[in-house]
Amino acid sequence: MAETINQWAVFTIVLSGLALMAGVFLIRGGNREAHMKAMLLASGLATIFLVLYLTRLGLGYEKKYIGPNRSAYLVLLISHIILAAANLPLALLALWNAWKGLKAAGGNLRNIDLPAARGYFNRHRAWVRWTVPVWLYVAVTGWIIYLLLGRYGEVIKA
Ligand code: HEM
Repeated sequence: MAETINQWAVFTIVLSGLALMAGVFLIRGGNREAHMKAMLLASGLATIFLVLYLTRLGLGYEKKYIGPNRSAYLVLLISHIILAAANLPLALLALWNAWKGLKAAGGNLRNIDLPAARGYFNRHRAWVRWTVPVWLYVAVTGWIIYLLLGRYGEVIKA
């Protein structure tokens, strides 16, 4: 049961990373509407991940790494955990500024340069400079940790 939840959690965080990359490409191409949809999808998937992850923790399922280079594994794991925790407020700040900007633009993404909206979108751009790399790091390292534990993990609490 916990193992299945864990697999779905990893699947959703990887999909959220892919939706995030799609959203970045879409905004680079100037497609704001599609960018918004991709980012809302990425955020929804990340929220599902969080619920699954917390459920798994609640069930008390845990694996210990027993492979080679344990200290390198711990650096990977600790950086993953710290940045995963940082990702939540970063994503919320990016979303909050986009949402306020959209409202100030009268709900029309063609109006983002209206003075009332511009400040929010400038802040959105400033925050996402941190949000995007952190989110991608968390998604990629989450996948790597899952693969490593599949190969070198030993269940210590089931
Ligand atoms: C956490 C989710 C989101 C992330 C990570 C994100 C990421 C990005 C990135 C990387 C850029 C390009 C910044 C640049 O050119 O320097 C951008 C721009 C933009 N985003 Fe998002 N975005 C998110 C959610 C949203 C949402 C929900 C909306 C719609 C309401 C939105 C609307 C925009 C707009 C309009 C721009 C262009 C701003 C401008 O040209 O000044 N974003 N976003």
